[in-house]
Amino acid sequence: MDNEYKIPNHVAIILDGNGRWAKKRGLKRSMGHKAGFDTLKKLSKYIFKKGVKTLSIFAFSTENFKRNKEEVDYLMDLLVGKFREILKQNNNTKILFSGRRTNLRDDVLNALEQMEEETKNNTECVLNVCFNYGGKTDIVDAAKKIAEDYKNNLIDINDLDEEKFGKYLYNSIPDIDLLIRTSGEIRISNFMLFQSAYAEMYFPETLFPDFKEKDFDVALDVYNKRDRRFGGVK
Ligand code: IPE
Ligand code: IPE
Ligand code: MG
Repeated sequence: MDNEYKIPNHVAIILDGNGRWAKKRGLKRSMGHKAGFDTLKKLSKYIFKKGVKTLSIFAFSTENFKRNKEEVDYLMDLLVGKFREILKQNNNTKILFSGRRTNLRDDVLNALEQMEEETKNNTECVLNVCFNYGGKTDIVDAAKKIAEDYKNNLIDINDLDEEKFGKYLYNSIPDIDLLIRTSGEIRISNFMLFQSAYAEMYFPETLFPDFKEKDFDVALDVYNKRDRRFGGVK
């Protein structure tokens, strides 16, 4: 059944363009983040309804600490104060937090860990929130954990393969099928480097706050036209 319409199992979104969206309207950058949050709320509901099982979102990179304090604080406050609204509407969704758990405000870390705890038995879909996340640190931190296990005789290095390595990453989730970055930037910006090895990539020009359900439908159409060969011949 090769002509069947395919729904990707794991969709990842680098939600970009909030600042430019606000600037165009003469608003503060934080208002762009607020609008982006409202878009994410509706979009995540729609994406899960479409049958996607894992959704990863890049919400704050390790590099985003370079921004001014007001903007960083706003993004942290948004997570603590509003993120739960997304969980409430996506019933039976398990939330995972991927990122370094150091250098975060206590209330931010508590909010993330509480949401993980509250939803740990949910089975329908997974929302992987990449926060204080870097693709390189994901791999480096995994290597450190492996070294630790090796020291404690918990792992035979000869047994280490891609699958086992993947289990040491911040979260053990399937490879990305469809990676979307909004706002027209054509780069990964240190997002999930290991997990995007064979992702189909799509770079719409739309700024994230304007990326609506119908735009996701277009992304699905684009995905369905791609010929995924994984190095083989078709
Ligand atoms: C993405 O929007 C959100 C985060 C990085 C947190 P930006 O804030 O990067 O928006 P632009 O790229 O400046 O328009
Ligand atoms: C990537 O966007 C990070 C997130 C979307 C959270 P940035 O806006 O920070 O990336 P660059 O600086 O344009 O590469
Ligand atoms: Mg940006």
